[in-house]
Amino acid sequence: MAEDLKTIISHSKEYGFVYPSSEVYEGLSAVYDYGPLGAELKNNIKSYWWKSMVRMHENIVGLDAAIFMHPKIWKASGHVDAFNDPMMDNKDSKKRYRADVLIEDEIAKIEGKIDKEVRKGRKRFGDAFDEEQFKSTHPRVQRYTETIADIKSKLGAAMMADDMTGLRQLVEDLDIADPVSGSRNWTDVRQFNLMFSTQLGNISGENSELYLRPETAQGIFVNFLNVMKTSRQKIPFGIAQIGKAFRNEIVARQFIFRMREFEQMEMQYFIPPGSEMEWYEYWKEQRMKWHLALGTPQEHLRFHKHENLSHYANAAADIEYKFGFGFKELEGIHSRTDFDLKNHQEFSGKKLQYFDPETKENYIPYVLETSIGCDRMFLAMLSESLQEEEVPDASGKKSTRTVMKLHPVLAPVKAAILPLVRNKPELTERARKIFDDLKMHFQCQYDEKDAIGRRYRRQDAIGTPFCLTIDFETIEDDQKITIRDRDSLEQKRVTVEEARDIILKSTNE
Ligand code: GAP
Repeated sequence: MAEDLKTIISHSKEYGFVYPSSEVYEGLSAVYDYGPLGAELKNNIKSYWWKSMVRMHENIVGLDAAIFMHPKIWKASGHVDAFNDPMMDNKDSKKRYRADVLIEDEIAKIEGKIDKEVRKGRKRFGDAFDEEQFKSTHPRVQRYTETIADIKSKLGAAMMADDMTGLRQLVEDLDIADPVSGSRNWTDVRQFNLMFSTQLGNISGENSELYLRPETAQGIFVNFLNVMKTSRQKIPFGIAQIGKAFRNEIVARQFIFRMREFEQMEMQYFIPPGSEMEWYEYWKEQRMKWHLALGTPQEHLRFHKHENLSHYANAAADIEYKFGFGFKELEGIHSRTDFDLKNHQEFSGKKLQYFDPETKENYIPYVLETSIGCDRMFLAMLSESLQEEEVPDASGKKSTRTVMKLHPVLAPVKAAILPLVRNKPELTERARKIFDDLKMHFQCQYDEKDAIGRRYRRQDAIGTPFCLTIDFETIEDDQKITIRDRDSLEQKRVTVEEARDIILKSTNE
């Protein structure tokens, strides 16, 4: 696991996963472009999510709604009035910060101290170490835990009450300094709306102001009836969507963790009122299983129940991932009640209801939402998989390799086709032919440059789960090729068809 964001950023740039946007013009803050391998990895994340939602559920169907929507939608959804973040400026450095994020960073620092104590304890007690017991009895850890609980409760109360003075006070009480300049010379805390606005060309007057959608969910709500009727769904049913969202984040940082243009994978599940807690627990469990199935260990994932709820929710939890900079939100599971449909019904004047054939009653459905940021998932997968490890080289000596142990389903390239040497046409021609066959089944790369060991290392560094080597035996003798497993380094000789089947099976193509 790569702890250090700098390592991830430079690896991403070097191998063509992520570049800063508009780099030749010195970049654009908090906007990034995905390179050739990044585009593959991102597509694989999206496709894995889509399959798990749409293909695997008869009662979940897809949608691709437009980014531009009628401006009234954002009034009805509450975003015009309530989609704000508390910001403050440092008078010396002139830098702008989110007050709640500054406070959360303080919490993360204390959590880091707890982690450090736990590591020390584990080192000291070895196999006999019981983490839970240690945390509940170690005096320093207990003090840290109490401090965290106290800060969280004050932060939650201030956020719930929109208490900007309370937030300002908390920053002062915690003696928080500007992370860049160290200065404590702050302005007051003020609300800042996160929506980007633009003008529609042919409408004059107040309605001409459009917003870039800050979440994909609203496209689902306003299409609820269209989708239900055309796909002949009955409640409970879900609508899944993947698409861009835009937020004018005050502090956009930590690489692709918090961006101004990003992608969401959201699913809104329409349910009868009163059943929301049952579905809330169900989808929490399902979504956690999804993450675990990709190989992320349980100790790097946790639920975080929201104390201060968004304007639309009556229960909410995040699935947090242990990034190098602490446990942070990766996905949200929200019980949105009938807030959105009810408001759209009121603002549009159109009935957005479901007729229950059993009870013969009309009602506005409740909604359970799962919402995950594709880019955050991408960063979590890079953090989880990128590592340095010692392995024996060709001569049996130990050497260090950089490897991305991505789940094969997500790997940008599934197999590399490598002729042993480049200057023997009989080898390269055969390898090219195998490449042409296999590329019809999954993403392959053909590479003949450099010594074979260096080519293996390059494929390890981009997470390719299998390397197929074509050597003299292949053409002279047994027709078999060598398949090398990225993680175990095991090599076996197999036919091309056997290799294809092994790869198809493990990459789920
Ligand atoms: N429809 C509900 C909704 O939008 P959210 O918690 O604001 O809920 C859902 O966002 C997910 O979108 C987050 O868990 C996160 O993964 C992702 N996300 C939100 N803001 C983001 C940003 N500025 N950059 C990257 N991802 C972001």
